[in-house]
Amino acid sequence: MGKVLKLKCVKCEKEYSEAEVLYTCPACGIDGILDVVLDYDQIKKELTKDYLKKNADYSLWRYLPAIPIEDTKGIQPLHVGWTPLYNIKTLTKETGLKSFLLKDDSRNPTASLKDRASAVGVAKAIELDRYVMCAASTGNAASSLSGFAASAGIKNYIFVPETAPEAKVTQLLIYGSNVFLVKGTYDEAVELCFKAAAEFGWYDRSCAINPYLLEGKKTISYEICEQLNWEAPDIVVVAVGDGCSIGGVWKGFKECYALGLIDRLPKIVGVQAENSNPITRAFEKDTYEFEYRIPQTIADSISVGIPRNGIKALNALHESGGYMIDVSDKEILDAMRILAQKTGVFGEPAGVTSFAGIMKMNERGLLKGDEKVVSIVSGSGLKDIKSAMQAIGKANVIKPNLEDVRKIINK
Ligand SMILES: Cc1ncc(COP(=O)(O)O)c(C=O)c1O
Ligand SMILES: [Zn+2]
Repeated sequence: MGKVLKLKCVKCEKEYSEAEVLYTCPACGIDGILDVVLDYDQIKKELTKDYLKKNADYSLWRYLPAIPIEDTKGIQPLHVGWTPLYNIKTLTKETGLKSFLLKDDSRNPTASLKDRASAVGVAKAIELDRYVMCAASTGNAASSLSGFAASAGIKNYIFVPETAPEAKVTQLLIYGSNVFLVKGTYDEAVELCFKAAAEFGWYDRSCAINPYLLEGKKTISYEICEQLNWEAPDIVVVAVGDGCSIGGVWKGFKECYALGLIDRLPKIVGVQAENSNPITRAFEKDTYEFEYRIPQTIADSISVGIPRNGIKALNALHESGGYMIDVSDKEILDAMRILAQKTGVFGEPAGVTSFAGIMKMNERGLLKGDEKVVSIVSGSGLKDIKSAMQAIGKANVIKPNLEDVRKIINK
């Protein structure tokens, strides 16, 4: 008997065994995302604080007893996880908090949180003897799969919008993926990838349909709890596109609680860009229906018209007593500059959207000041230099003499 008890549809709640279904609920189709339900009574016996204290593996695989991979042959050597959790005390004015915690997941091998999902996705593919993979992505999930597939020697096909930042596309090419730049939106790239996977029999890494991906993402919450010596934070703030990341974050905390590793649960706050906010709109209308509008934001990673994992995102908000908050592109660019200049952590636009959300929460009087708040930096600023350039001025160009230096420093 493995770790997985069942796969449960988040829409109709129908349950399946792992052998019965590969991606989504056959009854609900593409909207019937499955939740991996693990055997927590069994896992509890192995995954204890003491077990972790003695575990020398400081990567996401230290939580392997709670990750539904049965055969470890597909685990790649690329180091994912155990990223720093900084206690930031320099942003009290901006956040209204005495200090807050910054989880820097840009420190993963392909420089985003998506590596947690790809590490598990590729291990799962190999466990299932599937050696051709595909993914549709705004950029980071793709470049992450690309890196892990390179490590594993797995052929892969990637669908990203033609407008994806150059650095992310370059990652895909240098890792040797077969890249399709789709003349269309991310939503159209997703549809095409689904069709291609079905037609050509590829194993689909898209978090939007593959339930195992979230099992990697959830490890960020195990880490946060362990790094806080098993004291749960009060609030965790997450940037939201499709909703897989926030769903994974919440599942991780719920599992830590179910396993007796923490004794209370944090509130989850999701942040979207104001012109790419279908989850905020659904949350505020108290509906599980998502209304499509063409998304428009500088934060390409969260530029999503149809949230593929919206139900899990809304569940995270409702179950944790959290809420959604929107930020403008200007606020995202401000957050990028402020975070880089006050902490040394340089995130891409979506990567700092959580921090932009905290500043907005402060502005709206939603923070008391003494809560333990975590902000997740989900992707590196080096992935999207063009946006960073919009957040700052130009550098000084000088002749190679001291006079020019003096002129500028005296300005
Ligand atoms: C840097 C970054 N932050 C946040 C997100 C949002 O994650 P999700 O689409 O799972 O909601 C993404 C997704 O691509 C991302 O790349
Ligand atoms: Zn269903």
